[in-house]
Amino acid sequence: MNKTFLVGLPEASIPTPALVLDAAAFERNLDGMDAFLAGRRVALRPHAKTHKTPMIGHIQMRRGAIGLCCATLGEAEAMIYAGLDHILVTSQVVGEDKVRRAAALARWADLMVAVDSRENLRDLSREAAARGARLGVIVEVDVGMGRCGVRSPEDAIRLARAASELPGLVFRGLMGYEGHAVFIGDRADREDAGRKANAGLVETAEAVRRAGIPVEIVSAAGTGTFDIAGDYSGITELQTGSYIFMDLTYGKLDLPFEYALTALATVISRPGPDTVVLDCGMKSISVEREPPRPLSFPGLEILKLSEEHATGRILPGAAELRPGDRVKLVPSHCCTTVNLYDEIFVVRDGRVEAVWPVEARGAR
Ligand SMILES: Cc1ncc(COP(=O)(O)O)c(C=O)c1O
Repeated sequence: MNKTFLVGLPEASIPTPALVLDAAAFERNLDGMDAFLAGRRVALRPHAKTHKTPMIGHIQMRRGAIGLCCATLGEAEAMIYAGLDHILVTSQVVGEDKVRRAAALARWADLMVAVDSRENLRDLSREAAARGARLGVIVEVDVGMGRCGVRSPEDAIRLARAASELPGLVFRGLMGYEGHAVFIGDRADREDAGRKANAGLVETAEAVRRAGIPVEIVSAAGTGTFDIAGDYSGITELQTGSYIFMDLTYGKLDLPFEYALTALATVISRPGPDTVVLDCGMKSISVEREPPRPLSFPGLEILKLSEEHATGRILPGAAELRPGDRVKLVPSHCCTTVNLYDEIFVVRDGRVEAVWPVEARGAR
């Protein structure tokens, strides 16, 4: 059900558990990225896997993003159907049904997909050509993360050449996500790992160019490495996602972004002198890395989550919490938390300013 009837009402009227976005903090995060990009040539194609919310995509585009990244084809469909365009799907689109959907979508939008195999290229080409579509191809390069991506410049050249020659396809460039570097706590070590990864990608792009194939896009970066990749010569665009919301994992790094997204929870029980139970379990907040932490209630430590409960303890000397009191929890991972909700309540000065549907929630 659309909950926009809560717009204008106090935050206290939001039913919990709920996903709450602090509008001012969110805008400061956007400003922080804009400040970095100002005067630099690198572009931003932010990752929509973080928010899965077309309204946020529109806000990013209004601020100058050149398009959006998506992690799944379903996310790309949701964004394009909401009027967004210039979408890079940063995962491989494989399987007969998905290849058909991608080709059909490319008929109506500027769509690019990451590719790391020849078979996949052939399938995409066949379906795109059959529809008179021109599907963009970005060859993914493994830059040290060890996930998808070609493992050598020779393979990148082979795929780039095939993508340039096959009907229905347009070779656009390369991507290399340095996921192994983004969370490194020590700044110098993170720079070192990030630059090594960027170097591998940029050198591969040069090798493709030397083979006579133009490379328009060289895409990299997560939130932990946005400024490293953004200053690395030859990287043309950034695919950062979490900078808009932040989470406990990125909060440990020295980044110019702040917590903007929390799960709003209600205290439902005080069964013992220091035990507190909230209505926000693992079906409402992600626990993949560590338990969530209260945004502004340092005296409460969350110890464990079950499906619909968070159990914590009040530390000695902390303020009292009673059943009915509300607490905002910062998740360890913002992207997987967003995927648990149908809407984001946008709050400013204690009131609901907007309710944005998480349109691409669960979209594959
Ligand atoms: C392919 C890809 N690009 C970029 C990102 C960067 O996202 P974030 O800024 O949230 O670290 C991710 C994160 O998982 C990713 O998988």
